Amino acid sequence: MDPIAKLDESITTAPENIEAAETLSALEEVETRLLGKDSVVGEVRRSMGGLEKELRPKVGAKLNEATGLIQDLLDEKRNELQDQELELQLRDEAIDVTLDAVSFPRGRLHIIQQTIDEVIDIFVGLGYQVADGPEAELAWYNFDALNTPSTHPSRLESDTMYLDWGDPRDEVLLRTHTSPVQARWMESHEPPVYIVVPGRTYRTDTVDATHLPVFHQIEGLAVDENIVFSDLKGTLLHWAREFFGPQSQVRLRPSFFPFTEPSAEMDVSCFACDGGEPGCRVCGGAGWLELLGCGMVDPNVLEAAGYDPNRVSGFAFGMGPERLAMVRHGIDSIKHFIDNDLRFLGQF
Ligand code: PHE
Repeated sequence: MDPIAKLDESITTAPENIEAAETLSALEEVETRLLGKDSVVGEVRRSMGGLEKELRPKVGAKLNEATGLIQDLLDEKRNELQDQELELQLRDEAIDVTLDAVSFPRGRLHIIQQTIDEVIDIFVGLGYQVADGPEAELAWYNFDALNTPSTHPSRLESDTMYLDWGDPRDEVLLRTHTSPVQARWMESHEPPVYIVVPGRTYRTDTVDATHLPVFHQIEGLAVDENIVFSDLKGTLLHWAREFFGPQSQVRLRPSFFPFTEPSAEMDVSCFACDGGEPGCRVCGGAGWLELLGCGMVDPNVLEAAGYDPNRVSGFAFGMGPERLAMVRHGIDSIKHFIDNDLRFLGQF
């Protein structure tokens, strides 16, 4: 068969061969078959030297034509296949942006910690320092240093959890209030003293709607020259207005604590009904909310700490963040705080 006819046949059959390739690697094989060493084109190119002179230009022209045409077809197909493969790859690797992202629930501080932080912030704003002390406490700091007589009923095992019980000089207990930190702080610091003490406290209380055996207190202590009862009232009024709102009023009722004299319970006017709406959901119509214990630091407590009661005086108070949070948010049972139910905790 003459080379021109062979090349023509090659040109004619090339399109269907090329069209049949479905992948880039298949197309490479086709390319070798059509233009490689052993292809018709390859053979004719090799035989050119042996051709008669007058045939050479014709065959040469046909050879160029065939090579050019086939190459063009191959290039065209290669582009097409490359586009297809890119398309497939993009489809494979596509990210469905309409799909919901995996969301991690965000944690937050427990409502009791939030309440503590808020109260502390108010006192820090007045220049108070934050102090703390041990939860496993010597009976001395929990009771004796606070002017509590050895016969006081709160010392009984029915009220206080003892870790080490017996010799009164080194009895260890779980502190029943944060007040022992008053004694500890004064023992190691000179006046003036302005501290707030948040912390955990323990009593042998049976769990009910308002009692837990483990709860919290925030203690306050101010000792300086010329501190008088109106400083106590003014400070707590300021706190109440920051915490419950600027319209709040406070009132003090006589009370008793071994470590303060005089002692008082402080009530704040109901923030929900502003004082005396019958059946108010917060105060029940009383108009006042009982909040905390307070008083002027007993001179015996100052003396036990090594302070001179003739030179300095002070006031102290203790409040329960559980009670504060319950009053403020209308929470009906203290047990909610320890149930760890996120439906409850997530509300604050
Ligand atoms: N420690 C007292 C209590 O737990 C509260 C209190 C603190 C009262 C400071 C007066 C002064 O009830």
